[in-house]
Amino acid sequence: MRVVAMRLHTKDQAREGKQEESALPISEWRPTRADFLQFLVDSKAVYDFLEGYVASEGAKGNPLFKPFVNTGLERGQALANDIAWFRNTLGYSIPEPTDAARRYIDYLRELFERSPEAVLCHWYNFYFAHTAGGRMIGRNMENLLFGNGPDAKRFAFYEWDRDVKEILEEVRGRIDEVAKDWPREVKDVCLNETGLAFAYSGTILNNLAK
Ligand code: HEM
Repeated sequence: MRVVAMRLHTKDQAREGKQEESALPISEWRPTRADFLQFLVDSKAVYDFLEGYVASEGAKGNPLFKPFVNTGLERGQALANDIAWFRNTLGYSIPEPTDAARRYIDYLRELFERSPEAVLCHWYNFYFAHTAGGRMIGRNMENLLFGNGPDAKRFAFYEWDRDVKEILEEVRGRIDEVAKDWPREVKDVCLNETGLAFAYSGTILNNLAK
């Protein structure tokens, strides 16, 4: 899954990227704090959906999702804390998720019914992207919108309870284990979702890419 995902990056986003530059480079993004809040709200909506689904399938003993319950990558609670900080410290009212986030969730809900294996591709891309380019984007946003001095605001969305690289390696192993006996066509159905994972995530990143 990683190889396919890396191919879909632009050369400017990641060394292994193969796509030509088409969007505004991150260094030129100038969103407002309200845009960043909307991005957090949209991200939380998608993570809450994925985490709720994985937890309920895990509780039923579904072997496809059980290994992904409580991996340590979960972001719903961290995002709830960050969003509460906007409300309690900055006095923002919290917006609803955008149509972009709702459309992604609707798509995932439908895909769970049709092809649960394919959802694993979205799950991988959504969580792993956040630990790679997502972290870089987060640091840029924190610096741009909240300063970068020693007591600058840092968001829980970008902090994990333990070394995230360790978690990623464990989770990578579990994905390989789950997918190892899939027939070729099931693997392909899953890999073929990568483009849509990028497209839908891109619509949420559009809160910032302005
Ligand atoms: C990995 C940048 C958007 C999915 C990476 C890496 C970078 C990066 C620098 C690390 C490459 C390495 O390990 O050497 C970016 C930037 C983005 C972006 C700047 C947007 C502005 C996305 C999107 C997705 C995505 C929209 C899909 C939802 C991934 C995945 C990996 C990755 C799955 C591999 C993680 C792993 O398996 O370790 N990205 N990315 N990225 N990105 Fe992105």
